[in-house]
Amino acid sequence: PRRPRPSHHHPPNGTAQRLPDIVIIGVRKGGTRALIEMLSLHGGVAAAESEVHFFDWESHFQRGLPWYLSQMPYALPGQLTVEKTPAYFTSSKVPPRLRRVNPGAKLLLILRDPTERVLSDYTQVYHNRLLKHKRHRPIEEVLVLKDGGVNLGYKALNRSLYYVHMQNWLRHFPRDSIHVVDGDALIRDPFPEVQRVERFLRLEPQIDAGNFYFNRTKGFYCLRDRGRERCLHDSKGRAHPRVAPDILHKLYRFFHEPNRRFFELVGRTFDWN
Ligand code: A3P
Repeated sequence: PRRPRPSHHHPPNGTAQRLPDIVIIGVRKGGTRALIEMLSLHGGVAAAESEVHFFDWESHFQRGLPWYLSQMPYALPGQLTVEKTPAYFTSSKVPPRLRRVNPGAKLLLILRDPTERVLSDYTQVYHNRLLKHKRHRPIEEVLVLKDGGVNLGYKALNRSLYYVHMQNWLRHFPRDSIHVVDGDALIRDPFPEVQRVERFLRLEPQIDAGNFYFNRTKGFYCLRDRGRERCLHDSKGRAHPRVAPDILHKLYRFFHEPNRRFFELVGRTFDWN
């Protein structure tokens, strides 16, 4: 039940497509869809429908700014526009490109416990492969090498090394242009986390507690938008594979130092394992 897509021949009166004021840069599986949907509850926000992948996909980037603009929502003059592409955060070519085009952008980065994020990432790939009638190797085989060491070659593991990617962003954007959203807190209790985002964006406080209700069947919060209730798609909030405790602890230990470096970079801690 999305809003109707504006017709390109008849954009709504007084609206225009502009560069996004806000970019949700990631992280993949951090809760990016939940965040953009929750932010869209605010009347002062207009969101792009799908993931744009302008700065990270060469075939899109080569089409230039007119194409990027064509992907943006039709917005009223006072509205803030937002696009989300979770892959931006972990692509080193994105920060310089984004700065050149949109140096004043406010960036939102939603992160989760890095181990949890790896399991979520694995689960997503597992399901995508299943759709193509392919199998994914068992989780434990992917995570750990035969000698017992953590498999550093596993891409999902690298995506959870948040400090590595954050360093790249901070070379191109000032710290205060990036707001980190606590994705674990957004799952547990979304409203306070969304209020912090409103404040960061200097939006008038408009979203309220009544916009959220816990749906026991889904096991997650769902949205109440002008009386209409809706949950995120079934692909959001999947069950993760069970992993042996010793392997889980190996991962917690592995992420300990990278997490510490991330906390230092952003001047804030998170209660990750
Ligand atoms: P899981 O499916 O692994 O639980 P993204 O949109 O970036 O792909 O992130 C997906 C994750 O958003 C889900 O990962 C889920 O945990 C999280 N999420 C946060 N709030 C949610 C909500 N209200 N409903 C469903 N999923 C939510």
